[in-house]
Amino acid sequence: MQFSLQQDASQLDTASSIILPLAKSVKGNDTLTTDILKAADKLLNGAISHAIKSGDLSSKFKTSQLFLNAGAGPDRILVIGTGAADKLSGRKYRQLIQAAWSQISSNPGSNVLNQLTTADTTCLDVHSKVRLTVEAMVQACYRFDQFKTDVKDVPPSTNMILVADTKAQAQLEQSFATAQAMNLCRDLGNLPGNVCTPSYLAEQAHKLAERSDKVTTEVLEEAEMETLGMHSLLSVGKGSAEPSKLIIINYKGGEEGDQPHVLVGKGITFDSGGISIKPGAAMDEMKYDMCGAASVIGAMQAVIEMGLKANVVVIVASAENMPSSTASKPGDIYTTMSGKTVEVLNTDAEGRLVLCDALTYAERFNPKTVVDVATLTGACIIALGHHTSAVLSNDDEFAASLMIAGTQAFDSAWQLPMGEEYQEQLDSNFADLGNIGGRSAGAITAACFLSRFTESFTWAHLDIAGTAWTSGAKKGSTGRCVPLLVQHLVNQA
Ligand code: BES
Ligand code: MN
Ligand code: ZN
Repeated sequence: MQFSLQQDASQLDTASSIILPLAKSVKGNDTLTTDILKAADKLLNGAISHAIKSGDLSSKFKTSQLFLNAGAGPDRILVIGTGAADKLSGRKYRQLIQAAWSQISSNPGSNVLNQLTTADTTCLDVHSKVRLTVEAMVQACYRFDQFKTDVKDVPPSTNMILVADTKAQAQLEQSFATAQAMNLCRDLGNLPGNVCTPSYLAEQAHKLAERSDKVTTEVLEEAEMETLGMHSLLSVGKGSAEPSKLIIINYKGGEEGDQPHVLVGKGITFDSGGISIKPGAAMDEMKYDMCGAASVIGAMQAVIEMGLKANVVVIVASAENMPSSTASKPGDIYTTMSGKTVEVLNTDAEGRLVLCDALTYAERFNPKTVVDVATLTGACIIALGHHTSAVLSNDDEFAASLMIAGTQAFDSAWQLPMGEEYQEQLDSNFADLGNIGGRSAGAITAACFLSRFTESFTWAHLDIAGTAWTSGAKKGSTGRCVPLLVQHLVNQA
């Protein structure tokens, strides 16, 4: 789907389909409040006002009627109720877009004039409406059917015209880049573990570098990581036949010497738990344990697409966590690249083991900020559910800036505390620290572990365990937290 802006909201004739909002009338009974509704009603010989009178159509949220037009002008006119202006939040607006699209998606024609950006709401500005529309529409057209042999459902290729001031053009471009980046993130997440291996992620990173001469990709193999002393990262892949990789994508869009913003992604392409093996139920979903990596690779694609004026480095720590006679065992002790030693008390707490070495590696870029993104803990889902990602940071102001980026991007995140009192839970009898901190505050102690390797820079950790994918009948990668990351980088640039 393509998108464009149109300043004028009064034209009916240019599109094959048009979507018109029906707002709640201030006087009580619903009426045709806008000129465009009146013009459409005239074109349809009064059918819209008749539908309102007969009760078939109202301004109630998501109530809609599709009118077919045999005469001049658009072939179909969808009128949809937008509900009370003070109730039309970002979340509701997204639902409105999805509801409208579901009415015309089977045959929208070549051009859809979408006037929902003019919907009456006290909660959203037009930029937000543009963003939500583009992201929701691209999501609605997303398919992951490459492994289905009988593909039937091809989304229509339509040009959607949004009614908005041309000042929203930059927002449109950012939103489209973000939406495409979410699709890349979704694809990488949804790919099965036997396809999306650490080597596959490395290939995708090389492909990004081909798209722009501002980008270089470097992949460190196990032997090079060995030389660097990344024994913690390497311990995770020891039980797997798939070689571990450290993937570095370097984007130079800023001035030479500008400190880069670094994004680090957890790229466990399958997390069986290792010797501390997970129970069988829903274990297939552990192919999604590389969604942190997918989101930072996605964010990098958006950065390239937008030509962001900043230096950005993406680091992906990738391995497959498997049990075998060569796998690491509970009680094993490894020396990290930082020199600190870690006692692996549970091989299923592997995310922090790959991230700690990647975070130490980040030091060499003299970063302005570092954000790591990981499906790190089940405990994060207990704390925040599936709606909100967790932020933990060694700098409260930085955490706040990420929460603001999340709010702007409708990709929410919330800060959890990380006081020093939690650090004691990581004490080990035999090494500098253990890799688990007991049952309580699991999302926090995981971040505390990472904080031991981020003392030299401004750092935040995003735990996306609850938000990166949905389970059940609609199982699939969500593309979160790409919007937050892109907005964060735009705000920093
Ligand atoms: N990848 C998992 C976390 C996870 C579990 C994310 C379920 C989403 C859904 C991580 O590697 C893990 O296994 N964490 C353990 C840590 C524990 C052993 C301290 C967990 O959360 O149970
Ligand atoms: Mn695990
Ligand atoms: Zn994991």
